[in-house]
Amino acid sequence: MRLLLIGATGTIGSIVHEELKEDAEIITAGIDQADLLVDMTSTESITQMYKQTGTVDAVINTAGIEHYGLLQEMTPEQNQIAVQSKLLGQINLVLLGMDTLSDNGSFTLTTGILMDDPIVKGASAAMANGGIRAFVQTAALELPRGLRINHVSPSILEASVEKNGAMFQGFEPVSAKRVGLAYRKSIMGAQTGKGFYVY
Ligand SMILES: NC(=O)c1ccc[n+]([C@@H]2O[C@H](COP(=O)([O-])OP(=O)(O)OC[C@H]3O[C@@H](n4cnc5c(N)ncnc54)[C@H](OP(=O)(O)O)[C@@H]3O)[C@@H](O)[C@H]2O)c1
Repeated sequence: MRLLLIGATGTIGSIVHEELKEDAEIITAGIDQADLLVDMTSTESITQMYKQTGTVDAVINTAGIEHYGLLQEMTPEQNQIAVQSKLLGQINLVLLGMDTLSDNGSFTLTTGILMDDPIVKGASAAMANGGIRAFVQTAALELPRGLRINHVSPSILEASVEKNGAMFQGFEPVSAKRVGLAYRKSIMGAQTGKGFYVY
């Protein structure tokens, strides 16, 4: 099995790499330090990446950034960060990547708990998560050749508590193992149009 993992150097990307490295050949992609360099906010860059991968059996995206800030202070430009990256970036990886997948291959995108369990300063991130969830469940109806698409929605990871824990008061951090298994289920399983919630 050949996998393309975008965002491989990040917290979640490293977990997915560790979970699957014994079972698959993994091509890593990212904005820095990866087999293939890609900027997910650029359709030209995504197209260039896919030209270099050859056929793969799964595309997994764990990359994406968003602005965290108070609603009354948030500018349209700050909101655009998540729109361009986590929302449109992930959607464009699907729109431009279908021909790169083998028959019955899969896309796995990344959302997050903030669309279901809101926090102050989380509106922009929640917006992107909810958009991806809606896209995934609808795109699954139309994907050709048995292609599948799912998203994984983690709560805050144990590994991210030191950096972001103050914003997530009362949330139970989730282990790397549980998050890795959710991606494994999406990639190796048979379900499509689903969210795998690690809450
Ligand atoms: N960590 C958590 O607790 C958690 C929980 C729920 C959901 N999430 C979501 O999961 C996603 C990843 O989170 P994370 O904690 O793993 O983030 P992270 O550690 O910051 O990693 C993000 C990865 O994306 C890459 N990247 C950033 N901008 C990019 C671009 N324009 N094109 C291509 N790659 C780009 C980064 O590369 P560089 O490092 O080189 O910039 C990095 O490899 C985010 O959408 C986040 O909201 C995270």
